[in-house]
Amino acid sequence: MLHFYLNNQRIRTDQPAGSTLLDFVRYNQHLTGTKIGCREGDCGACTVLVGELQPDGQGIRYQSMTSCLTPLGNAHGKHIVTVEGINAAAGTLTPVQQAIVQEGGSQCGFCTVGFVMSLTGHALSHKPATSESGLAAIDGNICRCTGYKSLERATALLTDQLAARPAENVVSWLSEQQFVPAYFKDIPTRLQALQTELQAENEANNQKPEARNQILGGGTDLLVQRPEHIRAVPVQLVYDQAHLRGIRQEADGRVVLGAAATAENLRDSPLMQQLFPRLPDYLKLVSSTPIRNMGTVAGNFVNASPIGDLTIFFLALDASITLETAAKQRRELPLRELYRGYKTLTKEADEQLVEITFPAPASTDFFNFEKVSKRTHLDIASVNSAAWVRAENGFVQEARLSAGGVGPIPLFLTNTSAFLAGKEISAETLAAANAVMQTEISPISDARGTAEYKRLLLRQLLFAHFLRFFPERIALRELV
Ligand SMILES: Cc1cc2nc3c(=O)[nH]c(=O)nc-3n(C[C@H](O)[C@H](O)[C@H](O)COP(=O)(O)OP(=O)(O)OC[C@H]3O[C@@H](n4cnc5c(N)ncnc54)[C@H](O)[C@@H]3O)c2cc1C
Ligand code: FES
Ligand code: FES
Repeated sequence: MLHFYLNNQRIRTDQPAGSTLLDFVRYNQHLTGTKIGCREGDCGACTVLVGELQPDGQGIRYQSMTSCLTPLGNAHGKHIVTVEGINAAAGTLTPVQQAIVQEGGSQCGFCTVGFVMSLTGHALSHKPATSESGLAAIDGNICRCTGYKSLERATALLTDQLAARPAENVVSWLSEQQFVPAYFKDIPTRLQALQTELQAENEANNQKPEARNQILGGGTDLLVQRPEHIRAVPVQLVYDQAHLRGIRQEADGRVVLGAAATAENLRDSPLMQQLFPRLPDYLKLVSSTPIRNMGTVAGNFVNASPIGDLTIFFLALDASITLETAAKQRRELPLRELYRGYKTLTKEADEQLVEITFPAPASTDFFNFEKVSKRTHLDIASVNSAAWVRAENGFVQEARLSAGGVGPIPLFLTNTSAFLAGKEISAETLAAANAVMQTEISPISDARGTAEYKRLLLRQLLFAHFLRFFPERIALRELV
């Protein structure tokens, strides 16, 4: 049985945990304000807010999610907000809705609910509202009619209004300003009570760990690929398991990520920001805000797409993964050894990924991630690549390079990385490294480009890494 709040209403349902939140709100609860566009996470018409009690029990964090890909089971214990739950009274508009009306941001109106929910999520954020954060909040919403300028103006108007939002008691202020209804103020207490009730119920049932079923993370791959199957089979939800969350550094310097850490958790982590100052730039190229709120790092690894951005990122960091069987037997495996062939893994079917670790780069090390796609945002890569380099006195001491889109699996470039070790940093070295690299990739021609184009792209990405790392040693003109 799943328990959560939907707007102002307590829900108890035995609908399948692998069915979608979208179908539940529209077909079970008949809340049809939430629209269905693509059912693939691309258009944002189905955006809802998912509020979760913070671990300290203080307050709620609301995140936008595409309900077409949100497993209903991931709503358990949370506050789900649809457009029907945001108006203080019938017939009144929230400031978000007013701004969209005022700026002419709605024409056919099909996308409007999604924009309204994303911008309401932005208002509920505890972070300062800036023009960048406002636009980032709607990066997963597509509109065919308006040309976006009116929506950008509406977002700017709201950002101005949110400048007055206090750092404390955000929800009270938002409620006074009619961004959300007054019942939002009671939600933390109600979710706390729900958590206590669910804990007591679990203990009374003496719940045994479930048999190993289909593992489901954020659902952003599985619910695109096999929604009917996932709805029909028992699923093992990992997204909300507390022991699979969090990002920390161990005393030996290794960084440990829980397998359910999302792309957005990486972006929010002070530790990751400190280790990778350009992380926001890299992650801006990965999916969209709602998808990053949902998709887990482990899901990206196990999905085994040859162009998985997070996989390519962590391959160059020499990440290892910890796998656990249903009988709790654990083993550690270098990430680069997870991939056997196209979408086939060395992981056993009953093994769950529980932890990801990597050695923290030293402050003097160099790291970079590059992605080329047909569209800058909300697109998958044609080719992507990451590089980690340790250098001294103009020589590479050690290097690790990875590349996606140039073979059947996400590639760790073993030979190129080994070739670079000990070499002087120069245009000649890069030309020679490229020659080695071309022998260990096998791109194919497909919708994202010809094999020749992908070979050329990867060469350019190799150059891009080193131009960023050592602009004083390599000149662009030497590389053309
Ligand atoms: C609109 C859209 C845009 C996207 N853009 C990008 C992009 O730019 N770059 C990119 O790399 N990806 C992108 N993706 C793909 C996807 O968001 C990521 O791959 C994401 O990290 C998948 O994580 P998940 O938790 O949602 O996986 P799920 O769909 O829940 O699971 C994927 C696979 O991993 C398995 N799995 C999940 N967790 C575990 C675990 N702990 N142990 C063992 N197996 C596990 C599942 O069984 C399944 O086989 C996009 C997806 C969408 C819908
Ligand atoms: S229906 Fe398009 S993102 Fe959900
Ligand atoms: S107003 Fe028609 S799709 Fe946006």
